[in-house]
Amino acid sequence: MSKLQELERHLAQLPSAHPGRRAAVVSAMQALQAERGYLDDAAVAEVARLTGLSTTEVEELATFYSLIYRRPVGRHVLLICDSLCCAMNGGEQLLTTAEQMSGAPLGEISPDGAVSILPSICLGLCDRAPAALVDGEALGPLDESALAALLRRLRGED
Ligand code: FES
Repeated sequence: MSKLQELERHLAQLPSAHPGRRAAVVSAMQALQAERGYLDDAAVAEVARLTGLSTTEVEELATFYSLIYRRPVGRHVLLICDSLCCAMNGGEQLLTTAEQMSGAPLGEISPDGAVSILPSICLGLCDRAPAALVDGEALGPLDESALAALLRRLRGED
């Protein structure tokens, strides 16, 4: 049984106005994203149906969480922090370099489909600035050579 099916079964047992339905919104978004790769409009509507939230409320939350993707992404997602601490430690240049190395604008999928690079608000890794997160793995401090090695790994070249 998939996580989405488990969640659906759990929510079906709760009354429609139960606060647990609304609280399950992030889990529902994550479960649908795990199945589909990203949260398209149909998935937003599905989350709204499951949780009792409006599609606008789900849309707002999906936009707020940087780990929820509203458009297709590459096989790997590299989030590079662009908040103050990282920006002051080379994060802005790192983003520019990452964009050039990936061959695609930020937010787009690299031509080989391997990676999407997304700027992110603070990742909570300020002590590792400039910091990044790839597929849930915390990285930092990242420099240009570490970034190049990372992209080779994500492309399966190492
Ligand atoms: S400012 Fe970059 S991780 Fe916090």
